[in-house]
Amino acid sequence: MSMNNLISQYIEEIRNARIEDFKDKAAEVEKFRVRFLGRKGVMTELFEQFKTLPNDQKKDMGIALNQLKNAALAKVEEFKSFVEQAEELNDTHDLTMPADFSQRGSRHVLSVTMNEIAEIFARIGFTVEESVEIEDDWHLFSALNFPPDHPARDMQDTFFVQKEEGKQDIALRTHTSSVQVRVMETHKPPIRIIAPGRVFRNEAISARAHCIFHQVEALYVDKKVTFADLKQTLLYFAKEMFGPDTQIRLRPSYFPFTEPSAEMDISCNICGGKGCNICKGTGWLEILGCGMVDPNVLEACGIDSKEYSGFALGMGVERMAMLKYQIRDLRLYFENDLRFLHQFDNII
Ligand code: DAH
Repeated sequence: MSMNNLISQYIEEIRNARIEDFKDKAAEVEKFRVRFLGRKGVMTELFEQFKTLPNDQKKDMGIALNQLKNAALAKVEEFKSFVEQAEELNDTHDLTMPADFSQRGSRHVLSVTMNEIAEIFARIGFTVEESVEIEDDWHLFSALNFPPDHPARDMQDTFFVQKEEGKQDIALRTHTSSVQVRVMETHKPPIRIIAPGRVFRNEAISARAHCIFHQVEALYVDKKVTFADLKQTLLYFAKEMFGPDTQIRLRPSYFPFTEPSAEMDISCNICGGKGCNICKGTGWLEILGCGMVDPNVLEACGIDSKEYSGFALGMGVERMAMLKYQIRDLRLYFENDLRFLHQFDNII
C-alpha cells in the first residue's frame, strides 16, 4: 500500500475510534497512544519511511504525516480528558453507591419522662417554673421549715459551695422544693406551678442511688385548697402517667415543709397489684412525697396562712422512668451507652 493511502487509512481509524468501545478505558487509551505515538508506534515507523522518500514527494507527504500526528495527538487528548472526568465522577459522585445512613438523635428517656409529667400537669392548669441549681440555705432549708439540726443540712447529704461562719450556706440544691419558696416570694396566690429540674446529693453511686438526679415539684396555693384537692390531683396524675386502672394509696409521712405529710403509692403497674418482684410482693410502688404546705412555709414566703392554704408534692424523675420503662439500674441514665439510649428512640 502506498504511504499516502496508509496515512489516510490511519486518519480514518483515528477518526472512528470511540471511547465508548473501550472496556478498560484507561488501559486501552494508553494502548491507543502507544500504537500511534509510542517510540515504536505508527508515527515513528512512517517517519522512517518518510526519510527514504525522494525529495519531490517529501513536501506533500510531510503535510499528510503532520495531519496524522495532530489527529492522533488530539484524539489521545480527548480520550484522556474523558478518562480523568470519569475518575473524578467515580470518586465523589457514584450514583449507584448506597446513601449514607445518618443516625437520627432522640430525646433522653429522662427528658421524655419529665416532659410527660409536665404535660399531664399542664392539662389541669399548672405552669412550669425553673430556678437556680446553686441555692442558699434560706431557699433550700430555712424557709422550708427545716430545723437547724435537721440531718438534710448535713455535709453527708449536701454538696456545699460555701460554708463559712457568719455567712449563709450556699449549696447545690438537694431538692426542687426550693423553687416553691422562690415562686411564693415573688407571686401572689393563686399559684399553680410545677418545677422540674436537676438536684444533687452527696450519695455513693449505685444501682439505686446517684449524686445527680431529677425531680418534679408541684405547688398549688389558693383560698380553700384542701387535702381532697391534693388527693384528686394525685389520682388524676397517677392514672394519666401509669394507665387508667392505676389505684393510689396514701401513707402518713413526715416532711418539714408539709403538714400533714404523706407518701403516695400506686398499684404495681407490672403485676396489676397481685405482687411481683418489682413491687417486692406488696402490689404497691412508692411514687412520691406530698402534703399540705406547712403554714410556717407560707408565712416565711410572705403569704397569709389564715387566708391561703396549699398543697405540694415532689417526685423523682428517674424513679418514674424506672417504673414506667422497667429500668433496673440508675447508673444507665448517665452512662451514654447507645445500646441503652436507642431503646427509647420511639417513645417520642
Ligand atoms: N423535697 C422532697 C425530697 O426531696 C420531696 C417532697 C416531698 C416534695 C413532699 C414535696 C412534698 O413538695 O410535699 O425528697
